Amino acid sequence: MKRVFMSVNDCKPGMTIAEDIYNEYGAVIIPEGTILEEYAIERVKKLGLVRIRMYDSTGEMIEASGTDLFRAQYKENLNTVKGVLHDISAGKQIDSQRVDQTTRSILSRINENREIVSCLSEMRTIDEYLYSHSLNVALLCMLIGKWLKFDYTKLKSLITSGFLHDIGKSRIAADILNKPGPLSDEEYEEIKKHTVYGYKIAETAAGVNDDILKGILLHHEREDGSGYPFSMKGENIHEFGKIIAVADVYDAMTSTRVYKAKQCPFDVIEIISVDHFNTLDNKITSVFLKNIASYYLGESVILSNDVIGEIVYINPFNISRPIIKSGNTYIDLVSQKGLRIREVI
Ligand SMILES: [Fe+2]
Repeated sequence: MKRVFMSVNDCKPGMTIAEDIYNEYGAVIIPEGTILEEYAIERVKKLGLVRIRMYDSTGEMIEASGTDLFRAQYKENLNTVKGVLHDISAGKQIDSQRVDQTTRSILSRINENREIVSCLSEMRTIDEYLYSHSLNVALLCMLIGKWLKFDYTKLKSLITSGFLHDIGKSRIAADILNKPGPLSDEEYEEIKKHTVYGYKIAETAAGVNDDILKGILLHHEREDGSGYPFSMKGENIHEFGKIIAVADVYDAMTSTRVYKAKQCPFDVIEIISVDHFNTLDNKITSVFLKNIASYYLGESVILSNDVIGEIVYINPFNISRPIIKSGNTYIDLVSQKGLRIREVI
């Protein structure tokens, strides 16, 4: 069955829902595969959702969704994030209440996968990189935790950890942090300390549990032992550290869009799955990328040979090389090695 994005107003009883719907506390209230009845449609509307994914072959394809609302809320959250991180860099204690408030506010967007995936990289401004990066990583962590089926408490901790993962940078001298050229060995050693500094800052805050602390401390550890601060390997790295690592790498990669030409999401997917194969947790990476890629199903693309087509199938074993339908021809990018997606239009 085909998955389509539908306006909630067009949903009719008897249709099948194609994604889990969460309430504001992160609990699934309508699981994927539920056949809608009138009351379920009303519940979805009450949650304020505008468009949802449905299994329906007659449904209207909707390309973009509630992005304006997402942008407005993003800016609001960014201001809170800014306040919290600013206080910490000014040497103040972590304002646990505001951290909790931000986490809850991020969590309230749990159904907005599509907006998060498509808007994150546009929302960034260069001079506020740390703030938007912290918020983006928190939002990405939420998606990953949701796709890994974490419960509410664990999800909330993961978001907090993602949001605070780089707070240790507030203890690093700005001239090192913002140095445009290559870093000396000493400078790099100093930057690496942000993990331990972050752990120490967060340790003193109320409501920060051990999982949150481990996420902050271990987000630069890598599966093959090439990371820091402890050069830990695979199974020794805490799950939160692994998840934040994926979110961190993904956000840093898509952020190059600010400086360079627009980056194709399928290039990002390919680079993460190939170049980071030995450094990021493969299970987490694959769940993350598969879900990200699925949001581009049905989208039009231009291939490197100028052919225009539509993404009709995401190959779970080769996520960056989907099948494209162009006219009556199906182009499988797995077998057409010379071709790639140049742009999603
Ligand atoms: Fe970091």
